[in-house]
Amino acid sequence: MQVSMTVNGRTRTADVEARTLLVHYLREQLNLTGTHVGCETSYCGACTVLVDGKATKSCTVLAVQAEGADVTTVEGLANGELHPVQEGFWERHGLQCGFCTPGMIMSAVALLNENDNPSEDEIRHGIEGNLCRCTGYHNIVRSIEYAAATMRGEDPPASQWKDES
Ligand code: FES
Ligand code: FES
Repeated sequence: MQVSMTVNGRTRTADVEARTLLVHYLREQLNLTGTHVGCETSYCGACTVLVDGKATKSCTVLAVQAEGADVTTVEGLANGELHPVQEGFWERHGLQCGFCTPGMIMSAVALLNENDNPSEDEIRHGIEGNLCRCTGYHNIVRSIEYAAATMRGEDPPASQWKDES
């Protein structure tokens, strides 16, 4: 079947099998391997992308279901410089092995696009569909708080670590 969608601002048209999942289309046919595959059962969130602005687990969507959609992957975030959420993860050490990170970042972007000043509870709720197997969520929450502040044009909260501002 032929499918056409906008991916990271570019119209992409391709032939896919009807059973092809969006995550596999992105990774294998468009070579956008920043979107990770973990469970393939809608549990881990590693495959999260934005579909028409909504955080979407791309292992739960057939590529043909995204016909006409506007899809953003982690590769589409940086625009000459890091997206504030990417910068937040850099500045506040929001990743360890990095496996969950692209999906976590996409969920955070969706959250901050809807709510530019989320509470810690709202941040944790916003990323509850994304699992991190490494060291927990503390630094991830701090990273998203950093991003939220900079997206509002404010100074980010002070770091808990002495050697950072
Ligand atoms: Fe899609 Fe885990 S790979 S939710
Ligand atoms: Fe390793 Fe989250 S940083 S799974």
